Amino acid sequence: MKLVLIGTGYVGLVTGACFAEFGYQTVCVDKDKSKVKNLNLGKCPFYEPGMDDLLSKHLNNTKLLSFSSSLSDSMKNADVVFITVGTPSRRLEDDADLSYVWSVADEISQNIEKYCLVVTKSTVPVGTSKEIKKIIAKKISQDKFDVVSNPEFLREGSAINDFMRPDRIIIGAENKKSEDIMRELYRPLYLRETPLVSTSIESSEIIKYASNSFLATKIGFINEVADLCEAVGANVQEVSKAMGIDKRIGSKFLNAGPGFGGSCFPKDVKAFISTANKLNVDLSIINSVHSSNKKRINRIANKIIENVDKKSTLTILGLSFKPNTDDIRDSTSIKLATLLNDKGYIINCFDPVAMNNAKIENNNLNYFDTPYKACFNSDAIIIGTEWNEFRALNFSEISKLVKKKKIFDLRNIYNSIELEKIGYEYYGTGK
Ligand code: UGA
Repeated sequence: MKLVLIGTGYVGLVTGACFAEFGYQTVCVDKDKSKVKNLNLGKCPFYEPGMDDLLSKHLNNTKLLSFSSSLSDSMKNADVVFITVGTPSRRLEDDADLSYVWSVADEISQNIEKYCLVVTKSTVPVGTSKEIKKIIAKKISQDKFDVVSNPEFLREGSAINDFMRPDRIIIGAENKKSEDIMRELYRPLYLRETPLVSTSIESSEIIKYASNSFLATKIGFINEVADLCEAVGANVQEVSKAMGIDKRIGSKFLNAGPGFGGSCFPKDVKAFISTANKLNVDLSIINSVHSSNKKRINRIANKIIENVDKKSTLTILGLSFKPNTDDIRDSTSIKLATLLNDKGYIINCFDPVAMNNAKIENNNLNYFDTPYKACFNSDAIIIGTEWNEFRALNFSEISKLVKKKKIFDLRNIYNSIELEKIGYEYYGTGK
């Protein structure tokens, strides 16, 4: 099978490289010529563990993977074409901006020669794949193509493993022919007994948003429970651990923190609400999750402001929205740093890989190349992202550098008793 992926963002690149790993001839297409040039040299535009090796293996050794800026050349003899362009929130609106999707659908329609399966992998509101079908059908007869929905569930930082060992594959198809092609495509995962779930196209599109919104709800819920724990002297880590043992609840996504961020949850929660609003359906629970998460960063900032004098120096460790990525989109650390900086605090920071992106976002912060240098003369340390590098910091060394021994452990990676024993004033989240 020859595969074409249109859009070399996070999803397109990881998916393309992983399909090459399965053994498929794969071409990833992007309009951005300089990006394509760099990709053909094996340069990945973002940090994702394992991606550099996968790119190099399939560009240079197996030659199963290539990058192109020409959709018409790439689509020659293509069996399956994936739409993997971005669907960001529209400016000033909450719904997804589908302009890239529509223009790609139109371009695909100009390049189908033999039968081709068009797969919507971008996260799109319910109804979009059927609209894509209508656009293509304006130029191509119905027997020469089908459209299916196949959402992705990759997490940044562990995307390759998530692709190779998914919990499930969703195939939203209208007929057996297209479903069979998708089943054949994912056959390498049969060995791992991955469930392949066939649904209608509409259900498949909703599964993606409902899954992300549900996970966001778990996080929003435990964050509010954390606030209650703080108010009464309970410990949210004990609470979530005990709750999670109940298999009906499950332990994952029950870690309290500064709120959910990243390129998916905030945008998808908003788009899901917006879709429902357009259909006069009230998603009141998800609405509350969205507003609760929006308020959260101010609450965290206020806690710091109440406990650290104005104009002090604060050290923020971790700037990416989660560990193992350089992605700072909707990063709570960047929001917090900006908020506190605007209030007059001096912000020193460090992140293992996200500093270049952070500098572009906010160049008023002071960036250091080790966590220890960032702690020099600091009045309080804030753990913003739970990178492994921060889990075993040398506090006897840090104690010599800081002005005051104070720590806000937003991700609860430290034991308060141990830090208090060596003289630290410790503030966790919900404990
Ligand atoms: C999320 C989903 O987990 C993926 O399944 C999905 O494919 C992806 O969105 C997407 O739609 O593309 P991702 O955004 O990479 O993946 O990151 P997550 O690990 O889900 O974390 C999202 C946010 O929730 C982060 O800010 C993280 O710190 C926060 N979080 C996560 C918590 O605060 N507590 C938790 O227990 C878990």
